[in-house]
Amino acid sequence: MDQKRDAGGGAAAGGGALAGRVALVTGAGSDIGRAVCRELHGAGARVVATDLPVPALEALEAELPGLVADPCDLLDDGAPSRLAAHVPDVLASVAGLPVVARFSEHERGEWERLWQLNLRAPMALTQTLAGAMQERGWGRLVYVASDSARAGAGGEAVYAATKAGLLGFAKSVARELARDGVTANVVCPGPVDTTASRAILDARPRLREGLLRATPAGRLGRPEEVAAAIGYLASPAAGFVTGQVLSVNGGIAMA
Ligand SMILES: NC(=O)c1ccc[n+]([C@@H]2O[C@H](COP(=O)([O-])OP(=O)(O)OC[C@H]3O[C@@H](n4cnc5c(N)ncnc54)[C@H](O)[C@@H]3O)[C@@H](O)[C@H]2O)c1
Repeated sequence: MDQKRDAGGGAAAGGGALAGRVALVTGAGSDIGRAVCRELHGAGARVVATDLPVPALEALEAELPGLVADPCDLLDDGAPSRLAAHVPDVLASVAGLPVVARFSEHERGEWERLWQLNLRAPMALTQTLAGAMQERGWGRLVYVASDSARAGAGGEAVYAATKAGLLGFAKSVARELARDGVTANVVCPGPVDTTASRAILDARPRLREGLLRATPAGRLGRPEEVAAAIGYLASPAAGFVTGQVLSVNGGIAMA
């Protein structure tokens, strides 16, 4: 068997399934990002947590032994090479900008910000990180998009378009990288109970009611439920899973 190829699942000797691996988590200060840090840390990875310089990063360092926080603005051109210095084996791309606005009223100036963070930044990080993963013969790229990218969502046309771009991007790089043991997959959360979504839903009680009615599970998701999906896709066990899109959405859309 080609030594470069992924040999499959199973915990590494002396630790979790990701022992000896470095996992870079963007948007690590968000509710979903923090849950992802805990998940990957629990699997034995050395976690590098990045976000804007938010207090949550310091709290993560205090909570999870060995976690390294490296705050930076992903819109800075130097961010990818700075983060590449940690030599990650796993990229969990969680950072994103949620904006709700009717498309007819959505200012074009803001489209740029959305595309820059939601799509261009993960693309730039991937371009910088993937080569070293290929050389090592192992890598996991996991992007957080949104169910709105698959099913559409009123008030989220621009956000959904940028997140949908991640699907085509991930599937394409998945094809380019698969023979070198590097997988690329997307997790699409449905409505998840986070500080960011609460800010949106608290201001729109009818939207909240409608979402709960339309969700077969009858509740919002939890950040840990999204993190568990990311943890699987980042694991050695998922070595034959690539170019896939996994919704974690309580059944609100089924495709
Ligand atoms: N909460 C939900 O219901 C839901 C649903 C679908 C998708 N998502 C996606 O999940 C991810 C996390 O969402 P969340 O609700 O936990 O919190 P969130 O939307 O607040 O997370 C975004 C994170 O990105 C960071 N960020 C913003 N601009 C940045 C920049 N320039 N450089 C570096 N980091 C920057 C923020 O500080 C924040 O921690 C996002 O990508 C979001 O789009 C969330």
